[in-house]
Amino acid sequence: MQELTLHIDDHRTSILIGRNLFPQRDIKAEGKVIYLVDVNVYQHHKEKFEGLQFILIPSGEKYKCLAYVEELMRKLVDLEADRTSFLVGVGGGLVTDLVGFVASTFMRGVGFGFISTTLLGQVDASIGGKNGVNLDGFKNMIGVIRQPSFVWCDLTMIESLDQGELVSGFAEVIKYGAIRDRKLFDFLEENYSSVLDRKTELLERIVTDSAAIKIDIVESDVTELGDRKLLNFGHTLGHAIEKLTGILHGEAVAIGMVLAAELSVKLGYLGRDEADRLRGVIEASGLPVETDQSMEAIFETLLKDKKRSGIHLGMILLHSLGDAFVHKIELESLKKALYDLH
Ligand SMILES: NC(=O)c1ccc[n+]([C@@H]2O[C@H](COP(=O)([O-])OP(=O)(O)OC[C@H]3O[C@@H](n4cnc5c(N)ncnc54)[C@H](O)[C@@H]3O)[C@@H](O)[C@H]2O)c1
Repeated sequence: MQELTLHIDDHRTSILIGRNLFPQRDIKAEGKVIYLVDVNVYQHHKEKFEGLQFILIPSGEKYKCLAYVEELMRKLVDLEADRTSFLVGVGGGLVTDLVGFVASTFMRGVGFGFISTTLLGQVDASIGGKNGVNLDGFKNMIGVIRQPSFVWCDLTMIESLDQGELVSGFAEVIKYGAIRDRKLFDFLEENYSSVLDRKTELLERIVTDSAAIKIDIVESDVTELGDRKLLNFGHTLGHAIEKLTGILHGEAVAIGMVLAAELSVKLGYLGRDEADRLRGVIEASGLPVETDQSMEAIFETLLKDKKRSGIHLGMILLHSLGDAFVHKIELESLKKALYDLH
């Protein structure tokens, strides 16, 4: 088992990565502990919830909305939750985003922790304290930044995860290698096949390395004014592609990373061989490297993205594998460069 700690001001979040963390480990709370559990996780791991008080959360992004937050809060009232209650979100990014938001606002905030059950959740969504819901199709428009007491990345729970979801989460792992850690990137290039075959020690290594990078970046920039923007590598275009096509988040990010690398080559920052290596590992992992959507459609959708500010956009580009930077670019120039790529 690996243990990492996220320090923000005087708050510490303990992040554990290993097998059989839940329900073996104790959760210390003043009041009652209520688990909010992804329905598919429950179906696969029913026995772990025996004797616990829990609420099931249906699967699907459409539940990440204020109307469903109200429904969850009503269920908490029915269970006589109060200010001393402690909420534990058990699931992927959908559940941790929702539960973090509910715990931050229910009775003006109660304690909470996460048991993260998807690869994407373990390396990304559960770490960093961004909790929120969507509004009218716009992702994460409503939310707070508040850190959980703990995050357990339970590698036993991940065993039941659909292979497509695992591969989608793997895109975020590739992202960490590409933006910050060339050694991790080299490791992924060599071992992607065994990782995706779920070899525990390899999963533990990539989750730990990825979580450590996210912790480092979040600690240096909680509110996303500086380095945290680097985490958006592949996401600016990826979000637009996800919205247009409905493919999985990691799949859209994979295409977004390929496009961002191509842009980096075109603008003279990145060598062609490095861009080809990135594309190569993405493709070999079974992730898509292109979309049938037109660049016009992608750009139009991107214009509506909430991270847009004024006529400039901060695109995350690469100097080399392991070294990303924010490239401020005028929307018109970006549009031209993107259209020229095809
Ligand atoms: N807060 C952040 O910083 C942050 C970062 C990245 C993504 N996100 C959010 O995360 C969400 C996506 O998260 P996700 O990819 O984990 O998807 P998810 O939570 O929707 O889970 C994907 C699917 O896997 C199922 N599932 C989860 N764990 C399982 C398990 N162990 N066994 C079997 N099935 C399981 C779920 O029921 C669901 O059908 C999006 O809403 C995204 O906006 C948040």
